[in-house]
Amino acid sequence: MRQFVSFALTLLAASTVTSASDAKGDTVSDVVSLTKDTFEDFMKEHDLVLAEFFAPWCGHCKALAPKYEEAATELKSKNIPLVKVDCTAEEELCRDYRIEGYPTLKIFRGPDSVKPYLGARQSEALVSYMVKQSLPAVSTVNPENLEEFKTMDKIVIIGYISSDDKAANETFTSFAESQRDNYLFAATNDPALAKAEDISQPSIVLYKDFDEKKAVYDGELDKDAILGWVKTASTPLVGEIDPETYSEYITASIPLAYIFAETKEEREKLAEEFRPIAEKHRGAINIATIDASIFGPHAGNLNLDPQNFPAFAIQETTRNAKYPYDQSKEINAEDVGQFIEDVLNGKVEPSIKSEPIPETQEGPVTVVVAHSYKELVIDNDKDVLLEFYAPWCGHCKALAPKYEELASLYADVPALASKVTVAKIDATTNDVPDSIQGFPTIKLFPAGSKDSPVEYSGPRSVEDLANFVKEQGTHKVDAFAAGDEKAEEEADATLTVSISSKATSESAAPTESEKADHDEL
Ligand SMILES: *[C@@H]1O[C@H](CO)[C@@H](O)[C@H](O)[C@H]1NC(C)=O
Repeated sequence: MRQFVSFALTLLAASTVTSASDAKGDTVSDVVSLTKDTFEDFMKEHDLVLAEFFAPWCGHCKALAPKYEEAATELKSKNIPLVKVDCTAEEELCRDYRIEGYPTLKIFRGPDSVKPYLGARQSEALVSYMVKQSLPAVSTVNPENLEEFKTMDKIVIIGYISSDDKAANETFTSFAESQRDNYLFAATNDPALAKAEDISQPSIVLYKDFDEKKAVYDGELDKDAILGWVKTASTPLVGEIDPETYSEYITASIPLAYIFAETKEEREKLAEEFRPIAEKHRGAINIATIDASIFGPHAGNLNLDPQNFPAFAIQETTRNAKYPYDQSKEINAEDVGQFIEDVLNGKVEPSIKSEPIPETQEGPVTVVVAHSYKELVIDNDKDVLLEFYAPWCGHCKALAPKYEELASLYADVPALASKVTVAKIDATTNDVPDSIQGFPTIKLFPAGSKDSPVEYSGPRSVEDLANFVKEQGTHKVDAFAAGDEKAEEEADATLTVSISSKATSESAAPTESEKADHDEL
């Protein structure tokens, strides 16, 4: 999905920019630097250690540095050391631990027990994740420590289970073990504590430091059912979209509503105002605020004017339909609430970004825009070869003359022109239903089976493309059958501009990573 991709990039760019100038100033650090000579002893001496393997030139490592430092300071009091290893100086050590990208974070329980760190690269997440690692999967709570435990993390889950209820205990414990990296768990069999919470045994209670603060599970004791509930109960009613939360929202398979606002105060005020609406539609749509001062350009992807905030839009993530809210209107919970309701009830047409339909087609390549896509690509009996391009894409420019030549092979012969269309669409100015992984993307929509287009992945020569049209097309049109066989050999294998990789780790070679970063931007 193109919008997803470009947003991931916008976010990445922003986070790189804001943290590019991180602290080199050598004040006293709580992060311990280790070398080949000190590593093993250090790991033997400490029960639980978080280690970062990094390279000094790596941008993502620089972005992590201040957050890692902050987490180290906080975790020091809990006796969980954070260490780092410079892989450009300690090649052997890094090879031993199979480090393939930077930064790599690993959790050590002694030198031989290693597992990957799977949390987010933010100080709060680092602390929370490591605290969970330091505790048993299920801690025991009693009247003395219950209140403190409830607030030990953003989300705390406590089982109130009677001491003779083996089945409930087993389910809860095994659920906690499977989710121990994600949530903090405790249990108690003290009936007085259950009574004080106004619940009966067995009950599972989720405590959170936001919204209604507490949710009680009332479904059956089944691990999948509990997990579904935990996920819903732990998602804020009106959350915040940022690089950490974005992919979760996008993969949630329900629509996502964006509230764009430039200041924190404004976002907090709107979040408060929208909470009842979010509550009402919980499970049907996610509503979240987003910092327009940083991620404003993403508004353009939702067909909003990215200069005009606050703004509101809904994105149906599963089919990438967009519903921008009229920007001449005020953003308030009442009117926008009605809009949300209308969108959810299918009463609003999605907005489609399109260039105007060209009055005449000049040249052999048919120009398709969003508004003519259905007619020219789908609703006809021709094999349609369609190139999705971007004006800035160098490989698309290189392809252009060959693509014209290819198009002429069909366009110039009426018998062939009635069976094959060679077309192109600017995918940056037109919304397309297709998922595009890079530019150019070339797909053949065969007559009679337009819903299963075939993507082209061979060399971009006239002959190879014509062969593709012949082999994959329904009409089996051979462009060269009539004319002379021009052998056009211009293998150009590495053409796809990869814009899909998220690159949160950098590969080990500095030049490669520099290159990757520039492609991303
Ligand atoms: C659950 O079972 C374990 C192992 O038998 C026990 O240690 C623990 O106290 C039990 N938990 C509760 C809440 O009864």
